[in-house]
Amino acid sequence: MIIFNRRVRASRRRPNQFSRELFAPLPKKYNSLAQVLSFAQDRRWRTEMIRHVASSRPMLALDVACGPGAVAIQLARSSEAKIVGVDLSPEMLHAASENIAHGYADRIWLVRGHAEELPFPDATFDALTFTYLLRYVADPQAVLKELARVVKPGGRIASLEFAVPARAHWRALWWIYTRVVLPAAGLLTGGRGWMNVGSFLGPSISSHYRRYPIDWTVDAWRHAGIDHVEWRTMSLGGGLVMWGYRAD
Ligand SMILES: C[S@@+](CC[C@H](N)C(=O)[O-])C[C@H]1O[C@@H](n2cnc3c(N)ncnc32)[C@H](O)[C@@H]1O
Repeated sequence: MIIFNRRVRASRRRPNQFSRELFAPLPKKYNSLAQVLSFAQDRRWRTEMIRHVASSRPMLALDVACGPGAVAIQLARSSEAKIVGVDLSPEMLHAASENIAHGYADRIWLVRGHAEELPFPDATFDALTFTYLLRYVADPQAVLKELARVVKPGGRIASLEFAVPARAHWRALWWIYTRVVLPAAGLLTGGRGWMNVGSFLGPSISSHYRRYPIDWTVDAWRHAGIDHVEWRTMSLGGGLVMWGYRAD
């Protein structure tokens, strides 16, 4: 437990450096293990998030914290959009470029960058997605403002994050899964790097929602200039999909 909390504290002190080190060993197996360790729920959550963006028929979309590219590829399959994927991790971007080479290299571009300071002018994109990002930044409110800045007025914004189940009995099972099963399963399926991320994940999610509950997050989206914010939790409360429109 002490080790878990130490990692959460380290992630707050130097979030960008912490993310770079945490994710560096993961890209090769990321897309497959994300499915296995989430019992394929991660795919359902992404599909729901992408549905909210694809239905607005964007021509140019941005996926922030794109990792190895699964969201960008699924959005390319579900729409005619050209997509830019941004991530701070060179290892993740390398995996993404290998993954998009199988059919999407002409519609997906990858850029190294930080969500805190995106390398794009105001109102560049018709839509924006971000997945599992807010736990890795020091100031979620400032990052949300930065994300909204690059979206055109009226453009759709959607996100996916883990969440903590609201009901006590599901929360107890979720706690056992994230604190005991996930680190062990991570070690067995992916080795030490996956054990580290598996043991970090549960305490990181709990600590994030203690500081930034869902109501806080909805308000933060509004303060960032995003209107009509709606959300739903999925899989007994383990996943949170949120969406809205860039204000005019
Ligand atoms: C859990 S992974 C999710 C990857 C991808 N969104 C997915 O769902 O498959 C989190 C990603 O966020 C990236 N990341 C963390 N902090 C970031 C930041 N401040 N700016 C850009 N990317 C960041 C990490 O490098 C990592 O690739």
